[in-house]
Amino acid sequence: MSNPPLHVVILAAGKGSRMRSKLPKVLHQIAGKTLVEHVIDSALELKPAKIHIVVGHAKEQVIDSLAHHSQLNCLEFIVQEQQLGTGHAVSQALPAIPEQANVLMLTADVPLIRAATLQRMTDSMQAHTLTVLTAIVQNPFGLGRITRDSTQAVSGIVEEKDASSSQKKITEINSGIICARRHELGSWLQQVGNSNNQQEYYLTDVVGLAYEAGDPITTLQPEANHEVDGINSRSQLATVERAFQWQQAQQLMDAGVTIVDPSRVDIRGDVSIGEDTIIDVNVVIQGPTTIGSDCTIAPNCVISQSVIDDNVSIHSHSVIESTKIKSQTQVGPFARLRPGTVLEAGVKIGNFVETKNAQISNGAKVNHLSYVGDASVGAKTNIGAGVITCNYDGANKHRTEIGDNVFVGSDCQLIAPIKIADGATIGAGSTVTTNVSENALAISRSKQREINGWQRPVKEKKQ
Ligand code: UD1
Ligand code: CA
Repeated sequence: MSNPPLHVVILAAGKGSRMRSKLPKVLHQIAGKTLVEHVIDSALELKPAKIHIVVGHAKEQVIDSLAHHSQLNCLEFIVQEQQLGTGHAVSQALPAIPEQANVLMLTADVPLIRAATLQRMTDSMQAHTLTVLTAIVQNPFGLGRITRDSTQAVSGIVEEKDASSSQKKITEINSGIICARRHELGSWLQQVGNSNNQQEYYLTDVVGLAYEAGDPITTLQPEANHEVDGINSRSQLATVERAFQWQQAQQLMDAGVTIVDPSRVDIRGDVSIGEDTIIDVNVVIQGPTTIGSDCTIAPNCVISQSVIDDNVSIHSHSVIESTKIKSQTQVGPFARLRPGTVLEAGVKIGNFVETKNAQISNGAKVNHLSYVGDASVGAKTNIGAGVITCNYDGANKHRTEIGDNVFVGSDCQLIAPIKIADGATIGAGSTVTTNVSENALAISRSKQREINGWQRPVKEKKQ
């Protein structure tokens, strides 16, 4: 017999009142990715036939947030108009799920769940009608508790608000992640009522119903408890963010990256870093970003959507976005590389330098206080302190093209569009408005005057 198809249901209709937020809870982020997307991406690894996302509160916003998901064709949105409980939410999705399927139910507010754990759950469905992911926790407050009979078989789940004082002492909790056969799930859900403290239709009631019907139930535990940490408040959001960041730092360290303090680095999205690269404290790296080996990223740098080759030093307080950096290059401290910057091998960008849409060739230097935008700078060219490419005339942007081996003295303005040919020299303090030929000196500054015995103004005395 072929395996039953797998259908995933993700519950994402609730408001998340405890977040006290204008934003629906499932759109809050861990490592720059929404909670609901974390859950979708783990579920996709199981290659399900379909993922049914139950939306309700702020449904347009939730659906829009996923409009650009790469596997949108696998996602289906089911609207739960009124949020009458988790059982009611799953019932809305059931008509779209074939009778012979297995249904894996996930909640969008439990974002760190690993695909490997979910795979173990679906594997266990060969021998069971119902599989519940549980965990033993130190502080079970607020969570559903697993009840067991005298033979230790699972007999049900009781919510915190409905639990007796002895049930509240149970430390085995419901993660909210449950897998069931579609056929049986349908009949259990029809029997779920709402006569409980919250007057909601609880999904968790299906466990007691399965027990009474004598259906085989099993429980599984995740490898690490943080996989099932739920997010109901901002404080839990921060706890889960740190757990996730810690996990990513561990993976990078295992791959040979030195992380000076794993509690003071943030990796958001898809990031790869080569061996023997050192990441100092308070560095934020946003993917997609690739950093090669033997690089140093000094404290307080923010690097996003960039590709950095081997042996690059990024000095402290540099902000780098959508930039390509070749090997043996030095950047910063206090550099700002904006989108479209390309630094070829051996380039030096110093402090308080801003670049944008600029190609800087091998061995060129821009060491102090400059703006280089919409420009190309040739090999071994030196751009002096305080040089500005004046690329914007108030309406349009224009390019500055600087050749190889050019020397631009300090405090020059290059008024684009302009070309400065190879080997040219620009005298310090010049405003350059026309093209400069090869090996020429261009200089434009007023002649110095001297007035002998100059009397400085003196401060007027108040009456
Ligand atoms: C739920 C479980 C609890 C478990 C905990 C684990 C129930 C009744 N309780 O409690 O046993 O320990 O998760 O984190 O299932 N949702 C809807 N529609 C609704 C209600 C909720 O889509 O009508 C969604 C929410 O958006 C959320 C998820 O279901 O993503 C869970 O709802 P929530 O209210 O957070 O349940 P908990 O009280 O955490
Ligand atoms: Ca919850």
